[in-house]
Amino acid sequence: MKAIGVDLGGTNIKAAVVDDKQGIVEQVTTPTRASLGKDFLLDRIAETVTGLVKNHEIIGIGLGLPGMVSKDQTTVKNPPNLPGWKEVNAAEEISTRTNLPCKVENDANIAALGSLHFGVGQQFESFIMITLGTGVGGGIIYDRKLFKGTQGMAGELGHVIIDYHGPLSNSVTRGTVEAYLGQRFLSRFASDLISQNPSNPLYEQFADNFDELEPLDLTNAANEGNDLAIEILAKSGQRLGYAIINYVHMMDIRKFVVGGGVAKAGDLLFEPAREIIDKHMMEPFKEGFELVYEDLGNESALLGASGLAFDSFS
Ligand code: BGC
Ligand code: NA
Repeated sequence: MKAIGVDLGGTNIKAAVVDDKQGIVEQVTTPTRASLGKDFLLDRIAETVTGLVKNHEIIGIGLGLPGMVSKDQTTVKNPPNLPGWKEVNAAEEISTRTNLPCKVENDANIAALGSLHFGVGQQFESFIMITLGTGVGGGIIYDRKLFKGTQGMAGELGHVIIDYHGPLSNSVTRGTVEAYLGQRFLSRFASDLISQNPSNPLYEQFADNFDELEPLDLTNAANEGNDLAIEILAKSGQRLGYAIINYVHMMDIRKFVVGGGVAKAGDLLFEPAREIIDKHMMEPFKEGFELVYEDLGNESALLGASGLAFDSFS
């Protein structure tokens, strides 16, 4: 039995044919930009899927996307990083275009389910997934089930406020986790600091095109010993630490799985986070605390998304 898993990200649409026994059997990536708008993206997703369907018998589509989704797993609610998608029944839009049944779910919830069934999350009964990409997402796994809240939208961890005097993110709110750890804001913060340090090698590399600065550039520079890059990632890591303390104090879940592009910075980010956690988390919560990296990467999202289709349509 085969289903299609799709992951709509800030810069790519990834899609895969997944066999319930063999895993991913075919996979494609289509570059895209969220700013291209809803209809363009929906058409692009449908084209990508249609291209894959040709050689396979498919039972349905599971789609992960970067926004809150209704409890019935059809409708996206006003996502901050998908301009123009106010209340969109994405499941129906994709079904109409592909003639296949479709369910949608929040991208980070999908990543959490992917990790639970196929990734490092397999070893945990309960854990919190944090995805550090264009936006910052969260998925809460409690007793090996996704915790969904009353309306299906629990786990908007990127929008938890850690400094009400902090910088604005694209929500109207200041100092959210996403404002420090989301790829767009992290790049902006880095650009500001780099432009104040003209003697730093990163200045020469990016002074004319700060828009091109990616978190991976910071990681590479930091690994070569660039102090400023190390400092920028450490500052972000500290913020991650404060965020995690809030999540632990709220939920008493002590295992954290972090994935997404920004997380590739690894210990450059995690060590400063662990230091803050060690200093400021309430003592009784520290027992059994773990912060780990999900290196299944995008595969966990695609496997998680196909899982949604298998659960819904088989
Ligand atoms: C959105 C979440 C999403 C996350 C990661 C956030 O800005 O509000 O729904 O999971 O970005 O894409
Ligand atoms: Na979520």
